[in-house]
This record gives sequence, C-alpha cells and structure tokens, in this order.
Amino acid sequence: MLLVLVPFLSLTSISVDSGLGALVLQTPSRPILKSGTSVKIECRCVDLQALTVFWYHQLPKQSFTLMATSNQASKAAYEQGFTEAKFPINHPNMSYSSLEVTNAHPEDSSFYFCGASDTALG
Ligand SMILES: *[C@@H]1O[C@H](CO)[C@@H](O)[C@H](O)[C@H]1NC(C)=O
Repeated sequence: MLLVLVPFLSLTSISVDSGLGALVLQTPSRPILKSGTSVKIECRCVDLQALTVFWYHQLPKQSFTLMATSNQASKAAYEQGFTEAKFPINHPNMSYSSLEVTNAHPEDSSFYFCGASDTALG
C-alpha cells in the first residue's frame, strides 16, 4: 500500500506581529512511502527566527487543522487527536523544525506543512 504525502514548498507567513513575510522551505516535497514506515518533514526558516513553529495538516476538501505548536527550547504542545508518539517534532534551533509521521498508514495521507512565527506563543 502506498501512501502519498504532499507537503508543499511554501512561501508561508504566519506573522503574528512583525508583518514581515517569512520564507519557509519545506522538504521533501512529495514523499511516497510504504505503509508502516516513517517520513520526516523538514522546515527551514530562511529570514525569520522561528521561535514558534506551527504544524498543520489538511485533508482533501477540508480546512487546515493545527496539529501542534512548537516553541523552541520547550516541548511541543499537541492538539487533541495528535500525539507526540505518532508525530514527534524536533525544533533544535530557530531556523529548523521537523515533524515526523511515524508508522504511516493510508489515513495519514495529507498535506502537511508548517508555519513560523518569530513571536513566542502558547
Ligand atoms: C539547526 O538545526 C538543524 C538540524 O539539526 C541544522 O541542520 C542547522 O544547521 C541548525 N542551524 C543553526 C543555525 O544552528
């Protein structure tokens, strides 16, 4: 069984108070993986200090769902229905964060993407 995850290479700005656009590069762009394996989705912030990183997913024909909010140097806060065991987040510095989709199954097929803010939230 194949699973297709399609995060996008985004020009994302979820700018809370700076009003500045942030270039957030996301890789891989179109991973296809076997059921039961894991994929790590990486976000690199180019021109912003990503103090807070938001991880979202979007199922077809549905709106964005916030999965978790990660403040650098503290543990990510997960929304209901999402767990650290399933979606471990790494946020070691202010220009990088990754989200792993572990033990992926077809129902995990989704757009996954990140947004960043240079303001600490949550
Ligand atoms: C941030 O962490 C990532 C992943 O460990 C690393 O590739 C990158 O060089 C780090 N950037 C800085 C500015 O430390």
